[in-house]
Amino acid sequence: SAPLRVALLGCGVVGSSVARLLTEHGDDFAARVGRPLEVVGIAVRRPGRDRSASGVDPDLFTTDAAGLVTRADIVVEVIGGIEPARGLILSAMAHGASVVTANKALLAEDGPTLYAAAQEHEVDLYYEAAVAGAIPLLRPLRESLAGDDVRKVIGIVNGTTNYVLDKMDTTGAGFDDAVAQAQALGYAEADPTADVEGFDAAAKAAILASLAFHTRVSGEHVHREGISDVTAADVAAAREMDCVVKLLAICEKVDGEDGAPGVSVRVHPAMIPRSHPLAGVREAFNAVFVDADAAGQLMFYGKGAGGDPTASAILGDVVAVARHRVGGGRGPGESTYADLPILTMGQA
Ligand code: HSE
Repeated sequence: SAPLRVALLGCGVVGSSVARLLTEHGDDFAARVGRPLEVVGIAVRRPGRDRSASGVDPDLFTTDAAGLVTRADIVVEVIGGIEPARGLILSAMAHGASVVTANKALLAEDGPTLYAAAQEHEVDLYYEAAVAGAIPLLRPLRESLAGDDVRKVIGIVNGTTNYVLDKMDTTGAGFDDAVAQAQALGYAEADPTADVEGFDAAAKAAILASLAFHTRVSGEHVHREGISDVTAADVAAAREMDCVVKLLAICEKVDGEDGAPGVSVRVHPAMIPRSHPLAGVREAFNAVFVDADAAGQLMFYGKGAGGDPTASAILGDVVAVARHRVGGGRGPGESTYADLPILTMGQA
């Protein structure tokens, strides 16, 4: 039978991993889906850039992203940022394609628009890679725990800042030195603001809270404090108390002053005892605890960033939406019946 056409938007670290793994494991994907998957194009901004190291067929590159999304069954968006990603995703859906995206900033800012378009055009919207990279976390919240009452989601969802804080803790390095090390290893961007100031973690917290509590939380609703004010002296003082400093994302169902339920969503550095499991999360790893009424406490741990780990989550989504194309059915839409007010107070 005819292959399902996959279009890739973006070919950075994550996009090139996706393209390579899709090609290398083509037979496995065909077997798991029941139809072959064919990469029909990869939209890039600068066609001249040398991508020979990525192993991707250079004939697939195009600068015509707008045209590419009109001739695909599945569009994988790994450009990041709001535009042009949003416009391309909406156009892809309008042309009948299902969308897999890793774009946490867009989902945290304008997720409802994407969900509405997916609903209108009867296509899938999957975004497992947007939070905590390789760790299966959003599908568990959206599907496996949909029959439970999630009370709390707390964890480390930014690998770059965890690496920086871990280096400060283990080597006594100052903040700037630790950031430079993170940049040298390719974790932190040349401009590390989104990571160190907590914007990345806040976007992820908004996505987690929305899914966990069936409500709408956007990035701007998240109380946010980054790690740029954490000094070597702070880390040393924590160490004296047998504690470690971690940047935590905390999403909770809480009771407001009038007793009515609401949600508190916040990102800030916190001192935690070395005996706590989150204290053992080293380098650029992520870890998330979920507390649900019937399930009790669940723990998720793994690589939260990087090309192949993030590609793993994306490809799982590609298989899910491809199976729907073959066998029918669709993934879950937006579940926002709860409409809980945001009651974020100061720091925990
Ligand atoms: N900059 C992010 C991090 C990448 O360091 O966790 C994954 O979203």
